[in-house]
Amino acid sequence: MTAPEQQIFETLIYPYLNHAVRMCEAGYATAVDIDNGMRFGCGYPKGPLTVLDEIGPAVVRDALAARFADTGDHLHRPADLLVKVADEGGRFTAGTDDAVAEPRLRHDIARVGVVGTGTMASGIAQVFAQGGYDVVFVGRSEDKLACVTGYVAKNLDRAVERGKTTPEEKEAVLGRLTGATSREALADVDLVVEAIAEDLDVKLELFADLDRIVKPGAILATTTSSLPITRLAAATQRPGDVVGLHFFNPAPVMKLVEVISTEQTSPEVAETAIALSRKVGKVPVSAGDRAGFIVNALLFPYLNDAVKLAENGEELAVIDTAVKDTAGFPMGPFELLDVVGNDVSLAIQEELHREFDEPGLAPAKTLVAKVEAGELGRKTKKGFHDYSA
Ligand code: 3HC
Repeated sequence: MTAPEQQIFETLIYPYLNHAVRMCEAGYATAVDIDNGMRFGCGYPKGPLTVLDEIGPAVVRDALAARFADTGDHLHRPADLLVKVADEGGRFTAGTDDAVAEPRLRHDIARVGVVGTGTMASGIAQVFAQGGYDVVFVGRSEDKLACVTGYVAKNLDRAVERGKTTPEEKEAVLGRLTGATSREALADVDLVVEAIAEDLDVKLELFADLDRIVKPGAILATTTSSLPITRLAAATQRPGDVVGLHFFNPAPVMKLVEVISTEQTSPEVAETAIALSRKVGKVPVSAGDRAGFIVNALLFPYLNDAVKLAENGEELAVIDTAVKDTAGFPMGPFELLDVVGNDVSLAIQEELHREFDEPGLAPAKTLVAKVEAGELGRKTKKGFHDYSA
């Protein structure tokens, strides 16, 4: 690692490690789930607590303490638990592989409904169809429904080309997908996964309607990344059956599903969501209904910090390359921001800033400016990088 690379690594990665410790310290999620979250949600080779153990808690504590003395930013102050573990010469990931009871499907799930026709909805429909479930997906027009089938067919064509699946299996998966332009088609499904616009009013209307349409006992799941699931549950007469199933982009590839329980989610529903996620080949982690859940709460402050680093004069490509080379992340921060979309990233960062009330979480000015300029990332052909060619 060259000295400038080391500098970028410490600037961006150490606060992220500190943040992971705080999450553990608060009892929000287990060390295993935090590590699995970043490995399977973002494709990182190792989770933050494992990385921290490898670097040495005392090394990270000392570097953060020096930085905190410089910046006064509370996010740079070594977490109490980090100080304690470093002082004791301990580790974060020791003894975390204790056997836990295998979660079971407490509800019969045969048919799955998906609401939405965007990238996430299409990917989620593909995941369940590949997992052997009949999937009904609901969109607003025949054209939008065709987008879902087109997305799945394209992914499966690529898989056939690469020898990962057969043409017969491709046809079988597509055969399990049925589109509908009316929500009434969801009356009989055992689970609905909502993946529509990230707008509270739009989702509240949908949940009230799902409550009316979908048979009693079905699970109502949302893949929201930034809205309070508790509010969505309150729009129904069955808050115990409402759960978060947060998939990652691209859903067919990223193995993580965050299973989010509100105070009212019934334990059977959460357990079923975990068992079902495993059944379709995903790695579920559990957490409560709090802004950012595990992964976004750790990921987006790091992405935001990268934007701030660029504002201080560091080149985008240099940061992207340094992070990939030093941390082994599959994408640099600006490459990932352009995939996720700067509008989505800004909305998540604003939500984190609001909930945790940390000045250091304020969205970077350039991120705000990019959104104002309509430079949202790959989807608009220009974000931090240019994709017009
Ligand atoms: N849809 C479906 N499949 C895709 C795909 C897509 N958009 N992009 C790639 N794939 C598949 C490929 O077919 C390939 O499959 P195979 O191994 O079975 O042949 C596999 O993914 C790997 O693809 P490539 O070799 O072409 O490309 P890479 O090695 O560069 O991997 C990547 C692509 C898996 C997307 C990798 O870059 C990665 O892990 N990136 C990190 C993405 C990330 O961090 N996502 C989280 C964003 S935050 C979020 O989603 C939360 C939300 O709330 C905002």
